[in-house]
Amino acid sequence: MAVKVIVGSLWGDEGKGKIIDFLANDADLVIRAQGGNNAGHTIVVNSKKYALHLVPSGILRANCYNIIGDGVVVDPISLMKEIEFLKSQGVKCDNLAVSNRASVVMPYHIVIDRCSEEKRKENKIGTTVKGIGPCYMDTVERSSVRMCDFVDMNEADLREIINQRNIFIKLNYGDEGVDIEPTVKELMEARNYIKGYVTDTTVIVDRFLKKGKNLLLEGAQGSLLDVTYGTYPYVTSSHPISGGFCIGGAVPPNAITDVIAITKAYNTRVGKGPFVTEIDDDIAHYIREEGHEYGTTTGRPRRIGYMDIVALNYSIRINGVTMIALTLLDVLKGIDKIKICTAYELDGNRITHYPASLKELERCKPVYEEIDGFEDDLTEVKSYDELSENAKVYVNRLEELTGVKIGIVSVGPGRRQTLTR
Ligand code: GDP
Ligand code: IMO
Ligand code: MG
Repeated sequence: MAVKVIVGSLWGDEGKGKIIDFLANDADLVIRAQGGNNAGHTIVVNSKKYALHLVPSGILRANCYNIIGDGVVVDPISLMKEIEFLKSQGVKCDNLAVSNRASVVMPYHIVIDRCSEEKRKENKIGTTVKGIGPCYMDTVERSSVRMCDFVDMNEADLREIINQRNIFIKLNYGDEGVDIEPTVKELMEARNYIKGYVTDTTVIVDRFLKKGKNLLLEGAQGSLLDVTYGTYPYVTSSHPISGGFCIGGAVPPNAITDVIAITKAYNTRVGKGPFVTEIDDDIAHYIREEGHEYGTTTGRPRRIGYMDIVALNYSIRINGVTMIALTLLDVLKGIDKIKICTAYELDGNRITHYPASLKELERCKPVYEEIDGFEDDLTEVKSYDELSENAKVYVNRLEELTGVKIGIVSVGPGRRQTLTR
């Protein structure tokens, strides 16, 4: 039995979907525990691309069960469309369950997300505008609609809730809010469509654990987007770190056996917020095009930077990482010198801890070491030993700097482009 947490090391889009789909070959259950359809997890099978937002990345493996857990915020309309899409592609989706404790993202949350961003003017967070933050606000404030209530709700109650929120939106933002009647109709349709998937998933999780099955816990977003540990306020509103599964996935802490950090061979970030190793030169443009670094959910170009060991080691500490899966290594092909940030210089001092203060982070300058790059196309490599020497030097150096074994190296989006060590 193994209960493996898969977390994004830094700011998301590290290739979690690809690695989870790969590992799900040997897994019995995949659980999502936080975030919502702000996530975009891409899986490529036989050149066919699936962009998953709410449905866990084990869905393409027929023998693997999938849970959208208690801590996820679920947009029912988005979920319905995702299941419809998967079914149209021949994916059955009968191995899927949605927690009855999950909070429902309502169309008015999306309006509030948009209005809050507009109100922030030049201090925008750059959210995905999927209503994630406002839904979590309601949950913590104790006014969310939970799945168990949503599936039984009648039209009149739904209409009244939306009406009340429209009044709130008008008062606070001067916006008209949602168009009530079409919204009620769409929500009822989605409700009826997803109702059969909604159940007490804590019971299912417990059953798999008691039977000693293999579980994969699918993190969304990234550790430095965590609402407590991330670059606040430029974060998401949930806990994408390993501990998040205990509060959103009904997995007790002592059940977890491994914590795997999915780590890109370089760094990216979408949305605003500090990024010490960010670059915006020819190399950044090269990486963006080679790595197709455009958001899966919003299509926004991703910001690019060199590997930041200060941030990565912070993430490793707060997650208790036991292994790294290094992804997109192939993208670095053809870069003459690869830089690795090993420390920050802050006000004349060299530091290796990750500052909490945004003002301090803004003053931090990266201290780099350089290693020789590699020319080889890695996408056809079949085993780790076949990697070129310089590519191995980079992998080994990252292991030295983090003290964590890199057990998986990914050299392309496909299943077979995954090298285990
Ligand atoms: P996630 O949110 O962490 O699941 O990552 P995304 O799916 O948003 O972004 C990762 C992108 O990189 C996707 O387009 C993947 O298909 C792609 N990808 C994953 N691993 C590799 C890799 O090793 N090499 C290349 N070239 N692409 C990869
Ligand atoms: P996956 O799971 C990258 C970012 C947004 C924004 C911030 C807050 O695909 O790695 P939100 O809509 O969550 O309130 O936005 O978080 N963000 C992500 N960035 N990958 C993601 O998910 C993200 N989900 C949210 O860009 O900066
Ligand atoms: Mg993504």
